[in-house]
Amino acid sequence: MVRVLEAKGIWKVYETAATRVEALRDVSVKINQGEMVAVMGPSGCGKTTLLNCLSGLDEVSVGEVFVEGVSIFEGDDTLRTKVRREQLGFIFQSFNLIPVLSALENVEMPLQLNSAEPNSKAIRKKALNALEKVGLKDWASHRPAELSGGQQQRVTIARAYVHEPGLLLADEPTGNLDTETGTKILDLLVELNKELNITMLIVTHDKEVSKRCSRILEMRDGRIHKDTQNILEEE
Ligand SMILES: Nc1ncnc2c1ncn2[C@@H]1O[C@H](COP(=O)(O)OP(=O)(O)OP(=O)(O)O)[C@@H](O)[C@H]1O
Ligand SMILES: [Mg+2]
Repeated sequence: MVRVLEAKGIWKVYETAATRVEALRDVSVKINQGEMVAVMGPSGCGKTTLLNCLSGLDEVSVGEVFVEGVSIFEGDDTLRTKVRREQLGFIFQSFNLIPVLSALENVEMPLQLNSAEPNSKAIRKKALNALEKVGLKDWASHRPAELSGGQQQRVTIARAYVHEPGLLLADEPTGNLDTETGTKILDLLVELNKELNITMLIVTHDKEVSKRCSRILEMRDGRIHKDTQNILEEE
C-alpha cells in the first residue's frame, strides 16, 4: 500500500516558442505516511503543477518522484499509469464527473479500468459502499446534473477512494462550494485520513482547510517557501 511520496529536486518548465515558465524550481519534499498536508500559496505559484507531477499526471522536466521508494518516471509510462490507477486517488476542483453516467457508474469507473470483469457484482457493491460512506447511497442513480455541488464533490471523493488508495491528492476540493458544504467535505476528508490512515495532499486557498491539516507547505514562485508542522487542536 502506497502511502509515502517523495520529490527530489524536481523542476517543471513549460516552454513555447515565445515563453518559458519555470512552474517548479528545484522542489524537494517528502510526504509521510498518514500526514494530511495542505499546499498553499498565491495563484500561479505552482501548486497544481506540483500535485500533477507528484502524481505522475504530468512529467517532470528534471528530478525524480518516488512513490513508496520507487521512481515513477523511470522507463516508459506503464509504471506511472499503474501507480496512478491502483494506488492514488484524485479529487479535482471541477469535479470531473462524467455527465451521462449515474453517480454509481461514475464511482465504478476506476474499478472497471483495473478489472477483467468490469460489470461484476463485486464492483457494484464496492461502489455502493463508497457512496454510502460519503452519505449518498440514496442518490446512486442520479446523474451529476441532478446533484448539488456538494453532492457532486462527494461523488468525486467516493470515486477517488473506492479502490482504497493509500494516498489521496486533492486540488481545491472545497473551492467551488459554499462554506457549510465545504466544511462537510473537509470533515469527510479528515475522517478518511484518520480512520483509514490515507495520506493526503490538499491544494487549498482556504485557511479553514489548512487549519485542520497536520502540515502546511507554502509555495512561492515555484518553490516551497515554508514547511510547517501544524499543532492540531484536540477535537
Ligand atoms: N500547460 C501549461 N503550459 C504553460 N504554462 C503553464 C501550464 N500549466 C501551468 N502553467 C504555468 O505554470 C505556473 C504555475 O501554474 P499552476 O497551475 O501550478 O499554479 P497554481 O499555484 O495551481 O495556481 P492557482 O492557484 O491559480 O490554481 C503558472 O505561471 C502557469 O501559467
Ligand atoms: Mg491550481
